[in-house]
Amino acid sequence: MLTETEKDLCASRPNSVSYDRVADLHFLGNYVRRLPVNMARMMENAHDWEHLPYVHASSFASIDLISKGPWGWRAKIGLPGGGDYQLLDLIIDETRHYWVSTVFSGMGTGTEIHTQATELYGDEIEVDVRFYLPEAPADKSVADFVLNYLTDQYRVLYDEDLGLMSGRQSALDDRMARRDEPPGLASVLVGDVSELDPLGTHLVETQAGRFCVRRWRDEWIVHSAICPHMLGPLNEAKLDEHGNITCPWHGYRFDVATGQNIGAKCNDLAQAPRLIERNGKLYLD
Ligand code: FES
Ligand SMILES: [Fe+2]
Repeated sequence: MLTETEKDLCASRPNSVSYDRVADLHFLGNYVRRLPVNMARMMENAHDWEHLPYVHASSFASIDLISKGPWGWRAKIGLPGGGDYQLLDLIIDETRHYWVSTVFSGMGTGTEIHTQATELYGDEIEVDVRFYLPEAPADKSVADFVLNYLTDQYRVLYDEDLGLMSGRQSALDDRMARRDEPPGLASVLVGDVSELDPLGTHLVETQAGRFCVRRWRDEWIVHSAICPHMLGPLNEAKLDEHGNITCPWHGYRFDVATGQNIGAKCNDLAQAPRLIERNGKLYLD
């Protein structure tokens, strides 16, 4: 996958944040944003290399992991539009809630993006995303253009990440709340068959978890709406012609009939309750 030159480049990269580095770089500007999430979700998101081409499809076409560890990750990234690649790493200082992503090959080589996350109160944090270039741009109009481009891109990236981080926190809270509920599952109404949109997905909350009811080959089916990888929303996953769904967060695939994870990358889907039809109404039993 990597050329010899690329391997050498990777081998020369440090696996820890060097705070002195910025003195040699040109500071272009920054983007500051408050996010209604806790620090645990934010740091988890920084480590999560796998979501890039799925959650941020307009910025990344593919990702091939080169290495990862508690220090962060290094990967080869495919850019949208075909053909262009970047080598990129994201080095994390966990204790300071600080991370640096650096393009070290391909378009934008030498660009470093330093992010400081700070806990505010409640479940709110602030990120200060600081853009550094290897050299100052030729003039102010180029500098403004690049800064606007990066600011717009990071606004979109954080909009997208917010969906993932809040969705995951809500799924974790939901799982925790269910832990204290008494076991046992009465029938749960899905809806009137005549009123259920056959092209839609229907999310059903039960004591046993969240399930998704939808049509497949002229029948109603039910499967877990929670991805066993990191609790992604499988009710938002499209069903393909083979009866498989792809999780929108990291692209893990599942066969809805058997619940099996294709490629054995994570556990299979949680077992779904029975779906029954009674007097024109659909229930999970
Ligand atoms: S949450 Fe990661 S693939 Fe579903
Ligand atoms: Fe992200």
